[in-house]
Amino acid sequence: MPETKQSSPAGSLKITDTRTGKNYEIPIENESIRAMDLRQIKVKDDDFGLLAYDPAFMNTASCKSKITYIDGDKGILLYRGYPIAQLAEKCSYLQVAYLILFGEMPTKSELEEWTEHVRLHTYVHENVKRLMEGFRYDAHPMGIFVSTLAALSTFYPEARKVLDPEVRQKQIWRLIGKVPTIAAFAYRHSLGMPYVYPDNDLSYTENFLSMMYRVAEAKYKPNPILTKALEVLYILHADHEQNCSANTMRSIGSSQSDPYCSAAGAAAALYGPLHGGANEQVLRMLDEIGTKDNVPAFIKECKEGKGRLMGFGHRVYKNYDPRAKIIKEMAYQVFEVTGKDPKLEIALELERIALQDDYFVKRKLYPNVDFYSGLIYKAMRFPVEMFPVLFAIPRMSGWLAQWQEMLTDSEQKIARPRQLYLGSQHRELK
Ligand code: CMC
Repeated sequence: MPETKQSSPAGSLKITDTRTGKNYEIPIENESIRAMDLRQIKVKDDDFGLLAYDPAFMNTASCKSKITYIDGDKGILLYRGYPIAQLAEKCSYLQVAYLILFGEMPTKSELEEWTEHVRLHTYVHENVKRLMEGFRYDAHPMGIFVSTLAALSTFYPEARKVLDPEVRQKQIWRLIGKVPTIAAFAYRHSLGMPYVYPDNDLSYTENFLSMMYRVAEAKYKPNPILTKALEVLYILHADHEQNCSANTMRSIGSSQSDPYCSAAGAAAALYGPLHGGANEQVLRMLDEIGTKDNVPAFIKECKEGKGRLMGFGHRVYKNYDPRAKIIKEMAYQVFEVTGKDPKLEIALELERIALQDDYFVKRKLYPNVDFYSGLIYKAMRFPVEMFPVLFAIPRMSGWLAQWQEMLTDSEQKIARPRQLYLGSQHRELK
């Protein structure tokens, strides 16, 4: 058995309520207190009890988890204990997805079985295809992706039995298998090109590239360096503990909604420019800056609050995002195949200036995963609108792992935060 994370010794927190002079002792376990322990702190017996106020969950652990560990100050990211750089170097995405979902690296036969199950579920019902054809020609592929995920719920009504592990397992195969197909169909739709059906002789990433780019050739053969780059990008994006979309997946799933609707909600959360939409915004920002010479003026505007340096900063990382380091190296390998993107010069200059600038240094703002990923995607001919979709494909494994963990955690209930009501008191209509 692998060693599990050691927490500091249990202790307690002594609190004096200055309103009443009463003292309380609250246990500390796993370096946290239980928010419910605060409820005993009351002025009068019929008071509701003390609440913890935490907008945007800045200091609230909503669950116990064994999936992903991040040390934001040190720039460490582990999936099930394994460092991200080792996984990116030595594993395929499907191996990592298995690890994230089931807790251990698959053996050879487990990997074969898992790959076969995923492969068997790459096709979508013809009606799903027809549904996708109904979108306008210029529909954003992420809008198509989100809607189609939700629509899958109508094809698999048994998925509602979320407390049945066998039913859950089947939906996991389906969702991991179908997301590349839906993503590629959304892209082909925007071009008005016929959808390309999955080619199950190919690997997970090769098949995706084939569905994206195959035209008249009998067999699509993607460049192995580009396939490897996509594999690495998928691994880096597979999970990131309690981020906005994982929290959405857990929150929707906590009402025992089916996984297609929960995943559609998670994907919708990912779409926003502060989350998975950031890589799209990075490219738009680089376009807007235009040349390396305009970088100082752009940085000045960011510091004046006139915009954000997209792809910089993170709620958890207060150091270089370890994923950004791997992506930056990968970018050079990809550019050897595709030719260098002139925007790389602008990105490097932005990074150089920002990392020396007091504003960014003081706030611990470093490049995050999205700063360089867009440049790679663009070099691989993905249009910017596809960037959040490319993030969503591998993140499906993380969402499903978080969802399973939530459903099998006996402490979890329907997610239902409290509020501090500061509006009008009772009043009568005149
Ligand atoms: N450019 C300029 N200033 C920034 C930036 C930025 N990218 N990010 C944060 N700041 C400033 C912010 O203005 C604030 O300054 P002050 O203290 O003077 O008000 C301070 O830094 C703290 O920012 P915050 O918004 O309170 O931090 P947060 O933890 O709420 O936000 C973030 C994290 C990722 C949303 C934010 O850093 C951001 O908007 N970054 C740009 C968007 C981006 O790259 N998002 C991708 C995140 S990584 C992929 C993923 O996991 O989804």
